[in-house]
Amino acid sequence: TARSATGGNIAGAWVALRDEAAGCTRCPLYKPATQTVFGEGPVDAELMFVGEQPGDQEDLAGRPFVGPAGQVFDQALAEAGIDRTRVYVTNAVKHFKFEPRGKRRIHSKPGVGEIDACRWWVEQERMLVTPRLTVALGATAARSLLGRTVTIGRERGRPIELADGGEGWITVHPSYLLRITDPAQAAEESARFVEDLKAAAARLG
Ligand code: URA
Repeated sequence: TARSATGGNIAGAWVALRDEAAGCTRCPLYKPATQTVFGEGPVDAELMFVGEQPGDQEDLAGRPFVGPAGQVFDQALAEAGIDRTRVYVTNAVKHFKFEPRGKRRIHSKPGVGEIDACRWWVEQERMLVTPRLTVALGATAARSLLGRTVTIGRERGRPIELADGGEGWITVHPSYLLRITDPAQAAEESARFVEDLKAAAARLG
């Protein structure tokens, strides 16, 4: 494994892993994308967040959750009292999948084949960081983490034992909150998202 091959140098192993991911061709998504968007954050983080895939802005910046969904995420983390600089943030799929429409690039959902091809990277990241808790944001991340398709509504907001002995936690994706048009429902779902994040952080004691 990545961790046992490190001789204890986790930070060095993480840099090597990130550099290797920059050349990933495990699925065809690397071709039209600008770059691999690898995870970021302290390698000794106790809390890891897994998103879906980079969006347009993340693809250009090379960093996860810096666009509109990232702003919703940052706001929710702040409300939940979680310091983003202390958590590790990554994505289930590390290249932006999109449909060109004129000058715009429209996000398209990664398929199971792409999620499962990219799962190897998330597993390596988890092996190096060994977070006490990994939070899956939405169905794509949940599929990556659990290796099976789950219903968010049924699994959210409680600890889930992972195959590698770690602990998982499932909640919605911040983009889901951006898509809600009814203001009252948006406020309610945002509050529920923050509660999920608070409850996850509370697992760390
Ligand atoms: N949505 C995600 O799931 N991840 C990102 O990095 C940006 C948007």
